[in-house]
Amino acid sequence: MEHYNGRWNNRVTDIVGSRYPVIQGPMRLITLGEAAAAVSNAGGFGVIAASGLSSDELREDIRRARELSAYPIGINIPIYRPNAFDALEIAIEAGIKTVYTSAGNPAKVIDLVRTHGVKIIHKISGIEMAKKAEASGVDGVVAMGYEAGGHVGRDNVTTFCLIPQLVDVLNIPVIASGGIGDARGVVAAFALGAEGVEIGTRFVASHDYPVPAFFKEALCQATGTATILLGKEAMPIRVLKNRTTAAVAAMEAKKADATMVAEGDARYVQEGGDRESAVMPCGQIAGLVSEVTHIRDIVSEIISNSKLIAEDLMSLFKGNGK
Ligand SMILES: Cc1cc2nc3c(=O)[nH]c(=O)nc-3n(C[C@H](O)[C@H](O)[C@H](O)COP(=O)(O)O)c2cc1C
Repeated sequence: MEHYNGRWNNRVTDIVGSRYPVIQGPMRLITLGEAAAAVSNAGGFGVIAASGLSSDELREDIRRARELSAYPIGINIPIYRPNAFDALEIAIEAGIKTVYTSAGNPAKVIDLVRTHGVKIIHKISGIEMAKKAEASGVDGVVAMGYEAGGHVGRDNVTTFCLIPQLVDVLNIPVIASGGIGDARGVVAAFALGAEGVEIGTRFVASHDYPVPAFFKEALCQATGTATILLGKEAMPIRVLKNRTTAAVAAMEAKKADATMVAEGDARYVQEGGDRESAVMPCGQIAGLVSEVTHIRDIVSEIISNSKLIAEDLMSLFKGNGK
């Protein structure tokens, strides 16, 4: 495959320093040094998920990413975690230029980040949260819709509805997350006013992601209705349906104690299990994914096809539609 070699410059690439405003959706115990390097080498912004790593492991993954890529990488730090400040210190010490925070109030870390001249993007899923993040001084927000894989917000608003409402009230750039799997999603997000995209589910089906083969296979075979939202009352999470997640959903529906299943069978896919028992976070866009490929091909295809779609739309709007 030929790889597109241009660059798109906008406020998001200014913040993260990548060639394209394509951000890697951070994933605990998955987007580590190698996967982050693969995205950064492809022209996107690779992100190491600090969650679940000891301080030494985080340092080692930063070292590994640097060994494999000369391009900027980011670190995702969930603010509510007890080791958030340690992870932040490690990122600063390592010379990381942009951190990506989530799950908590960015006001808690903004002074430390600013003192060191580090940029910060923050993940949100609702308009009030986004306004607070902007007021606290973050440089941009990643706005995650209801269709996304993994933990989604409690507002149940889709990406398509969330993005235009956000760009109307914020001055900082918005990065669209949730349901973006190819160039059509990217162009749609930009049409809604986003200045960048975050990609999660689509990248999991790549040779560059260290997840078990059964997860990639399940993802490629998934249809648009293959996911289910668990934990709706407390911490909603979108996952692939299988024996375990169906059992948890049934217990939630009966308001029974879902922890019984959680303690027995249910384990995050990176911690064991098989296709029927592992909990595999996954977005609704899985229905679009049918093969395991390389990150560099996914990004390259997205970038070149976005340009073609935009040109087609231009000719349509000028009255020369094919
Ligand atoms: C397997 C998997 C694991 C994830 N783990 C995390 C995580 O640990 N922390 C986080 O902030 N988001 C996590 N997410 C969400 C992604 O970072 C990203 O926001 C989301 O996948 C984007 O939506 P999409 O899946 O529709 O592309 C995860 C998503 C998936 C699919």
